[in-house]
Amino acid sequence: MIAEIVLAMAIQNAPVMTYTDQVRPIIKLRCFKCHGGKIPTLPDFSTYERAFKKRYQIRSRVWTLKSMPPGRNDMTDVERKMIKMWVDQGAKK
Ligand code: HEC
Repeated sequence: MIAEIVLAMAIQNAPVMTYTDQVRPIIKLRCFKCHGGKIPTLPDFSTYERAFKKRYQIRSRVWTLKSMPPGRNDMTDVERKMIKMWVDQGAKK
C-alpha cells in the first residue's frame, strides 16, 4: 500500500519516465530473476540498450497481455503503468 502511494507520487513528480530512474528499478525487482542476463535463452533487460530493443514486447507482455512476470506475482498496476508510459514516451534513457 505504502509502496503504491510512493510510486504514484513518483509518477506525478516525474511525468517523463526514464530507464535509469523508474524502469530499471522495477525490472530489476520483477524481471531480473529471469531477464537479468543469467539465463542465456531469455532476453536480458539489464542494460538500457537491450531493454530498448525489446521495448514493444515488454510493453505488450507487461501492460496489454499482463503475462509477465509469469504466474502469481506481486507486480502492481502502478509498476505496469510506469513501464507502459516509458514506452509510450519514447523509452528514454
Ligand atoms: C520466472 C521467470 C520470468 C520472470 C520473472 C519474467 N519473465 Fe519474461 N519470460 C520468461 C520466459 C520463460 C519467457 C519465454 C517464454 C515466453 O515467451 O513466454 C519470457 C519471455 C518474455 C518476453 C518475450 C521475449 C521476446 O523475445 O519477445 C518478454 C518481452 C518478457 N518475457 C518480459 C518480461 C518482463 C518485462 C518481466 C518483468 C516484468 C518478465 N518478463 C519477468 C520468464 C520470466
